[in-house]
Formats: sequence, C-alpha cells, structure tokens
Amino acid sequence: MSRTIEAIIKHTGATSDKKSASAISQAMKAIRIHNYGGPEVLQYEDAPRPQPQAGEVLIRVHAAGVNPIDWKVREGHMKDFWPHKFPLILGWDVSGTVEEIGSGVSRFKIGDEVYSVPDPTRNGAYADYTVVRESELALKPNSLHHIRAAAVPLAALTAWQALFDTAQLQPGERVLIHAGSGGVGHFALQLAKWKGAYVFATASTKNQDLLRELGVDKAIDYTQQRFEDVARNIDIVLDTIGGETQERSWSVLKKGGVLLSLVQPPSEEKAEEVGVRAAFVAGHPSGAQLAEIAKLIDSGELKPVIDRILPLSEVRRAHELSQSGHTHGKIVLRVKDQTS
Ligand SMILES: NC(=O)c1ccc[n+]([C@@H]2O[C@H](COP(=O)([O-])OP(=O)(O)OC[C@H]3O[C@@H](n4cnc5c(N)ncnc54)[C@H](OP(=O)(O)O)[C@@H]3O)[C@@H](O)[C@H]2O)c1
Repeated sequence: MSRTIEAIIKHTGATSDKKSASAISQAMKAIRIHNYGGPEVLQYEDAPRPQPQAGEVLIRVHAAGVNPIDWKVREGHMKDFWPHKFPLILGWDVSGTVEEIGSGVSRFKIGDEVYSVPDPTRNGAYADYTVVRESELALKPNSLHHIRAAAVPLAALTAWQALFDTAQLQPGERVLIHAGSGGVGHFALQLAKWKGAYVFATASTKNQDLLRELGVDKAIDYTQQRFEDVARNIDIVLDTIGGETQERSWSVLKKGGVLLSLVQPPSEEKAEEVGVRAAFVAGHPSGAQLAEIAKLIDSGELKPVIDRILPLSEVRRAHELSQSGHTHGKIVLRVKDQTS
C-alpha cells in the first residue's frame, strides 16, 4: 500500500476493511510536485481523487497537453503570482469524459466528451481525474480524438484572446506572429488567416514548410533574415519570445498598431514614443470561447499540429522538450489507454 493511501485512511479515520477499500477506490495516479525544481521533481504517484463541488465537473482525463507554463510553474517562476500549494498536479490542458457533476451543473452530463483549460491556480490534468468549473468547459471538437483535442485549449484560447479580444483584429490587417511554428503561434497564424489578415510569421529553417502549410502569406526564417527587413507597416505584432525580439518589433509597427506580448510586459513609454498601443496578454479559461474554437476545428478552418505524443510516464522528457523552446506545435501526454 502506498504511503499516500495510508495517509488517506489515516486522515479519514478509516479502520474497517470496507472503509479502507473505499479510500483506495478514491485514489488515482497523478504526476505531482512536492517542491520547485528540475524535471526530477515530477513524481508519478498515488493521489486522492478530487471531488466536484457545486458548479464543478469531474473529468476522466484521456490526454493532457503540455505548455511552457507547466515547466515555469515547476521551476517556481509563478510562485509570487499564483498561490499554489504542494503537492501540486501540473498540466492545464485537458481532454476527457465527464465522470461526475457537482450540484448546479446544467450544461454537461456524465459521459460528455469535453476539453478545457482548468484554472491554473488549482490542480491540473497530469492525472487520471481532474476537476474543472463548468464555465471552463466545452464539448470537445467532434472531429478530433482526445489526444489531438488536448493539444488545443490553452494555446488556441491564448491566440484567440490576444488577436480578437485585445487587438480586435480586422480583416485586411497585417499581422506579424513571432514563432508561428510554436504552440500559440501555429493557432494564431491560422486564426489570423481565418479572420482575413495578411500574415507574416517567423520560425527557423526547419519550420518554414510548416508555416506555409498553415497558410502564412510571408514566412520569415529568423536564422537567415532580420524580420524587420521583411515585415513592415504591421498592425499587430504577437510577441511570444520577448527580449531582443520584442525590442526590435517596435520598428515594424505602423502608427496606431499594437504590440501584444505573452511573455514580457512591453514598455508603455516606448509605445507612446512610437505612437502604438502595447499590451501584455494573460490568457484565461473560457468554455464559451473553447466552444467557438471547436466549431472552427470541426469546419476544417483550424487544426492542431502535434510535435509528439508521450505516455504520462514520460512527463520529464516532455518537459525537457518543451523547455528546449524548439518543438513545433504541441506535445501531448497520453493519460488513458486508447487508440489515437
Ligand atoms: N501570457 C499567456 O497567457 C501565455 C499563454 C501561452 C503561452 N505563453 C508563453 O508564450 C511563449 C510561447 O508559448 P508556446 O506554447 O507557443 O511555446 P513553444 O511551443 O515552446 O514555442 C516553440 C517555438 O518557438 C520557436 N522559436 C524559438 N525561438 C524563436 C525565435 N527567436 N524567433 C521565432 N521563433 C522562435 C520555435 O521555432 P524553431 O524551432 O523553428 O526555432 C518553436 O517552434 C512561452 O513563453 C509561454 O510561456 C504565455
């Protein structure tokens, strides 16, 4: 018996065999961290199965997407912003099946196939089960298996909220997407094209074909060209890199344009000096927007690109790959045995 299950029994005061069996049946497997650190702090272990409260839904996780925020949280970069408690389950991209619903949940029923970005201040989806609020949930795209659906939520929502909510992208506008081959970038590129924008996107040599497959108007190989020599009079820059890339991006914007960053708040003074708007975009969960995104996927307008699928047991490798900063599209962890 694992120490975790022993702890559950001790905590609940269970002494009879019946109660012990019940405590064991409420356990699940999860990847948890007990302190901040490198990939070695990711532990595959028993954890208590969460219970949905009012307005919440318990999901049987089939697959969990991996995002850079996962290793950033693991390393402690978010500790001053998010009140995480240990042990913590990482992973804020999920596709799975509704297993239980809390009181007051009206839009979902047991057995529904759903996907979500759970609240990143709470436990995530590197586990057999996770709890999300009804407002964070949508039916997954019908046309995608869970593995592919789990690649969508966080990255596609961030791209949607940056381009449509913050920048209010209009047809005909010129958009520059840094890292058009990345998790957020490959959705942003497709969403901007769907809206009727003229899209420039950057990536290294090996990802130029991918940019073209996704419909880019002008692919820029940042290892061979300076993006500011190619992209000019830009209405919206989506900065997913920061640092020097962000600094050099001011010069490509037209007056009245907007620099959006996902990684580093852009300087308000600099924005004023060059006559543009600047915004840091912090994505947030939204079941309603995920439902819109599912429609676009089912109509063939938007597709996830998957770099690789790994079993949950290879989560450390998944983090190392994500942390390299050079995967294309998404990494997905397979949680439940399935055909994909
Ligand atoms: N604020 C928010 O709400 C929010 C939400 C989501 C993500 N983020 C952040 O946004 C960043 C991007 O996230 P992501 O999921 O898209 O990351 P990702 O998938 O890991 O991005 C990898 C991609 O970046 C490209 N790349 C690396 N260096 C580049 C450069 N100098 N110029 C252009 N492309 C470059 C790589 O292409 P090559 O291999 O071809 O170089 C690769 O395809 C992360 O820091 C993440 O934490 C923030």
